[in-house]
Amino acid sequence: MLKKYIIANWKMNLNLAETLSLAKKFKEKFAGFNQGEVVVCPSTLFLIEVNEILKGSIIKLGAQNVFWEEVGASYTGEVSPEMLAEAGCRYVILGHSERRKYLSENYEIINKKVRAVVKNEKLIPIVCIGESLKERKTDRRDFVLVEQLEQALSGIEVFGDQRIIIAYEPIWAIGTSTALEPAEAEYAHKIIKLALNDIVGMQAVSKNFSVIYGGSINSKNVKSFANLEDIDGLLVGGASLKIEEFYKVAKSIVK
Ligand code: 13P
Repeated sequence: MLKKYIIANWKMNLNLAETLSLAKKFKEKFAGFNQGEVVVCPSTLFLIEVNEILKGSIIKLGAQNVFWEEVGASYTGEVSPEMLAEAGCRYVILGHSERRKYLSENYEIINKKVRAVVKNEKLIPIVCIGESLKERKTDRRDFVLVEQLEQALSGIEVFGDQRIIIAYEPIWAIGTSTALEPAEAEYAHKIIKLALNDIVGMQAVSKNFSVIYGGSINSKNVKSFANLEDIDGLLVGGASLKIEEFYKVAKSIVK
């Protein structure tokens, strides 16, 4: 059975000193923890230094974004998949709803990024999907999820043991302290897996895909997510900024 993913998204919360201090705490606290795959995603700017700290630990490094080209004179300010791999990353978050909201990222752009990362082969993409409150209220959730998956994964071919993680993050549940009801999360994850079956085929889904949940997870509500069959892990924002809190989340989900 695959290990569950417990992914910390530190977003743009921490300065350099805070980032390095938290990375050290993660390394100490998770020494010997082998029941799950723990990933930390700091700011791009601090990846190399966090990688140095995490050397010799079980914790993997992830980035919060990437560009879709490998190299070029026309891409001022961007960072390629290969650059992230060189910095020590093994994972990269793609199409987070905050980027969709503030930077107008859409699923055409996200698809380019997913393709580039899959092609590069050194990084595992964490592809974010999730409905808005309006879409939820108008009962369009299932349709929206299927459409986002179809667009994000259009033209993707997965080879061998390559992994793709789909992160289901209902936009209205992010940073609100109200997580989705576990039964509802379980249902949404079933819809996502069924849609994936149609898009890439059942075999690839069971071999190459994981579906994780994100949105206001904390040490209290995580327990009700632990027994859900279709939840392969968690993407954690706020609760990943405090080591004790995040450790409790990780322990509860792997049980
Ligand atoms: P919160 O856990 O703070 O709701 O953030 C979730 C998230 O956006 C992780 O990517």
